[in-house]
Amino acid sequence: MLRLGFFASHGGSNMQSIIDAIKSGNIDAKVSFVISNNSDSGAIERAKRERIPYYHVSTKTHYDTDSFIREIIRIIDYHNADTIILAGYMKKLDDKIISYINGRVLNIHPALLPKYGGKGMYGRFVHEAVLANNEKKTGPTVHLVDNIFDHGRILAQIEVPVLPGDNIESLSKRVLEAEHILYPETIRKIASGVIII
Ligand code: GRF
Repeated sequence: MLRLGFFASHGGSNMQSIIDAIKSGNIDAKVSFVISNNSDSGAIERAKRERIPYYHVSTKTHYDTDSFIREIIRIIDYHNADTIILAGYMKKLDDKIISYINGRVLNIHPALLPKYGGKGMYGRFVHEAVLANNEKKTGPTVHLVDNIFDHGRILAQIEVPVLPGDNIESLSKRVLEAEHILYPETIRKIASGVIII
């Protein structure tokens, strides 16, 4: 059984889609903890509601890099987590943490990587660029995380059409709906050995 540790900064809707899939028996996994760098995040609210252990770890709680990294490793160890799920986590994860968990770190990005990835390409900036380039399709990517933004091995993607009259809001909503299908489905495949990481 996978033991997942979530990292989330904002609403946590992707995290919720994975929790729901676990609760309904679709994924053989346990949610070990939620870490957020934002004490007001929706992700922390969801963790409370779901009775999942949660931690606020940020540059406010741990202002030097070493103690920040040590605290995260302590939490991973304490819960014996084997896979980290980034779900809207806005900080770059340090190499030491990635190697500590043997590279088993997943992220979801709201574009068809390798297009529209890299530093500064997040949230509405991604959809703005997709629209500015008149792309006919876009969609989320689940990938492994390495030390370059949006760069690790691509595990799964779903294509979503860009429709005439789309704006950033309509497009991001359509892509987010696809994220809520793709992320749980990819983790299900990892849990059942269909995707090997
Ligand atoms: C999603 O758009 C995801 O692609 C990106 O951050 C957003 C997170 O949304 N990495 P939520 O916090 O899961 O609702």
